[in-house]
Amino acid sequence: MRIVIAKDYEDMSARAARIVAGQIYLKPNSVLGMATGSTPLLLYKELIKVHKEVGLDFSEIITFNLDEYLGLPKEDEQSYYYYMFHHFFDHINIKKQNIYIPDGMAQEVEKECRDYDRSIHNMGGIDLQILGIGNNGHIGFNEPDIKFEATTHKVKLDDETIEANARFFATIEEVPRFAISMGIKTIMHAKKLVLLASGENKAEVLYHALYGGITPEVPASILQLHQDVTVIIEESAAHLVK
Ligand code: F6R
Repeated sequence: MRIVIAKDYEDMSARAARIVAGQIYLKPNSVLGMATGSTPLLLYKELIKVHKEVGLDFSEIITFNLDEYLGLPKEDEQSYYYYMFHHFFDHINIKKQNIYIPDGMAQEVEKECRDYDRSIHNMGGIDLQILGIGNNGHIGFNEPDIKFEATTHKVKLDDETIEANARFFATIEEVPRFAISMGIKTIMHAKKLVLLASGENKAEVLYHALYGGITPEVPASILQLHQDVTVIIEESAAHLVK
């Protein structure tokens, strides 16, 4: 595990953007795993800049998002589908047919999950997966549990996650209670992982994830077993890690 301490959010995002741009340059048809939330916002801005200024080419890139809320249609501004197009895909030359995001309105959720894993497999697996970390140690929406959930699955969101994500919604009641998330095995199968963490509120969980026991109660702790993971931590989240 490589641990990089970035001096601020800008530095964290720029370092992550260099890794993603390098991956795309070396393998223009890479399969990228995408995250949403606050943490990767500037990473996406940086990548858009590299696309516009030096022509970083996304035309052969395939993407799979980590997760999506259940019950939100694509056009809902809080859906991760909307987030990804608004913050990233609408500003680069990616082909729409190469974008995979779980369908939050799927009628047959189990089938949607199975099909999602099959699509990842059919595309040759994920080359580079971007991850954030929840205050409770979740990656994707794999919440603390008594076992690691392997494949893409339906999740009941923790109260802590609902509270944390309420900042994006008008009221906490509007936060969906369920989501679809890639499983831990799906994530661990990615060839490379880049975990980003920013903000003082992530410091403690990050410490447990990186140095504590490997346990499904801190889902991100499984990353200790991955052979190619880079953790880029913004200074304020890093004081227990140094
Ligand atoms: C988002 C995701 C989540 C977030 C995590 C941190 O697609 O999978 O695991 O990465 O909840 O969210 P922020 O970045 O908003 O603190």
